[in-house]
Amino acid sequence: MTWDEIFRIVKGELSERRFRHVLGVVGEAERLAAIHGIDREKARLAALLHDSTKEWEINSQLKMLSECGIIVDNDTLQCPQVLHALSGSVRAKREFGAPFDVAEAIRTHATGEENMTPLQLLIYVADLTEPGRDFARELSPLRALAEKSLEAAACEEARMTLVRETKKGRAIHPDTRKTYEYYKNILQEMRSINDTE
Ligand SMILES: [Fe+2]
Ligand SMILES: [Fe+2]
Repeated sequence: MTWDEIFRIVKGELSERRFRHVLGVVGEAERLAAIHGIDREKARLAALLHDSTKEWEINSQLKMLSECGIIVDNDTLQCPQVLHALSGSVRAKREFGAPFDVAEAIRTHATGEENMTPLQLLIYVADLTEPGRDFARELSPLRALAEKSLEAAACEEARMTLVRETKKGRAIHPDTRKTYEYYKNILQEMRSINDTE
């Protein structure tokens, strides 16, 4: 399927507000891809499709996943707000013919995970740093980090998510915690290597 065809479908399905967010992520993904030397076409496709099932009922997402033979683990069932990352990833492959690495970036965009590829890191970060996010003051350090290091930005984003979800009293997906711990350790290791040089 071409970019224009996918664009029309996504635009036709999503609410205006959500589609504006998606366009913000597309622009941010292209910008960060140029800065970090990541494939621009893949970055913008993952961005366009990342929230394609976000407005589906949870049951419709579960139905589609079970039709594809995918069993949703308990941790994800406890955090329905992140289910659209998995269902969006499966849909991207199945319906829109997205390549594997694009689908992987969609799958991890809401929680992150350990040892992400640059494309996964980029979509995880761009989802939050896109210009339409309204908590601008809180986001400016994250936006600055995203231009320097996607690993550092992912670590900070996971930390912010832990704080925000705890405040809201919502269940935290274990992958968010794992993302934070993993990238915190990576950054510490990088720092200690730099110190000894
Ligand atoms: Fe999302
Ligand atoms: Fe999003």
